Amino acid sequence: MDRAIIRGIGSYVPDRVLTNADLESMVETTHEWIVTRTGIESRHICLDTENTSDLCLEAAKHAVANAGIAVCDLDMIVTATITPDFQFPSTACLIQEKLGCNDIPCFDLGAACSGFIYALDVARNSIASNASIKNVLVIGGEKLSSVVDWEDRSTCVLFGDGAGAAVISRAPGVGETGILDVLIGADGRCAKLLYCPGSDVSSGTERHLKMEGREVFKEAVRRMCAAVEDILLRNHLSIEDIACVVPHQANTRIITAIAERVKIPEEKLFVNLAHTGNTSAASIPIALDEAVREGKIQSGNLVLLVAFGAGMTWGSALVRWT
Ligand code: UT7
Repeated sequence: MDRAIIRGIGSYVPDRVLTNADLESMVETTHEWIVTRTGIESRHICLDTENTSDLCLEAAKHAVANAGIAVCDLDMIVTATITPDFQFPSTACLIQEKLGCNDIPCFDLGAACSGFIYALDVARNSIASNASIKNVLVIGGEKLSSVVDWEDRSTCVLFGDGAGAAVISRAPGVGETGILDVLIGADGRCAKLLYCPGSDVSSGTERHLKMEGREVFKEAVRRMCAAVEDILLRNHLSIEDIACVVPHQANTRIITAIAERVKIPEEKLFVNLAHTGNTSAASIPIALDEAVREGKIQSGNLVLLVAFGAGMTWGSALVRWT
């Protein structure tokens, strides 16, 4: 049976940077509080004229170039996002039009911060089940600044905008490299811990993101620890076999708590949230792209991705880097 490999990756963040010092003049907060409680120092924020599809387009172009294929070689686009440009059509369709690869199937997937891992699963299953699919463009992209309440200090300091993309390609036969396993799950009983009503502000109803921070924190640690342990166990691996762990970039305290519990040495953890903030579905592909560009991930390395998000959703993926 053929494999699905990550053939190319890329990412993009908007130019505009919002620092903690900027936030000090917007809400009652301090740089010190934000850094100590979250690890975040700055985040990128879209201009009013930039949308999720614009960020995704730039990330997609980098990923396609990095994969060494042409746009016309793509067979499907899956975009993980909770901040689509429109309610419909899908952001993936808008990206297809901008890329100019007409007629291939395109759709969005909503699994919040776990969206990129869910989309990886869709891509590898599509490759496994459909012989005509060779290259799937998987994108995680968000304009979270459009749903954040800029008067709520408990949430507005946490999030940023950005996009990351990967080309998932068919590779012949059974080989060493590729997406070895993906684990995904969800618990809808926790839906109200982190949600966005999403109605338009003109209707007078609330449209901003709402979060029970402490509860989300506890669930995040519990679910991500289990997602790491379960995927290692079912693949007969231990943390010693992993070269690099790329966790969802929400909060350094969450990442540290997971690392302590499942015994991930600090040098194996990739953390970049100081300059991105939490970019939801974009967080893992942006971090993965940075880790590769910084030489933290080499060909043949075993990489472990792990995420959690609104839903609550969670996921982990094991990838032998190509
Ligand atoms: O992708 C999933 C997205 N969500 C997350 O990952 C969030 C998970 N949760 C967290 O990361 C943390 O719960 C937060 C960073 C959101 C908050 O940290 P915390 O240590 O849980 O703080 P807290 O909510 O318990 O608040 C502690 C205090 C409160 O004041 P009092 O009641 O002790 O007087 C808050 O009002 O900190 C106050 N506070 C702030 N102070 C200054 C809350 N936000 C701020 C702020 N600046 N921005």
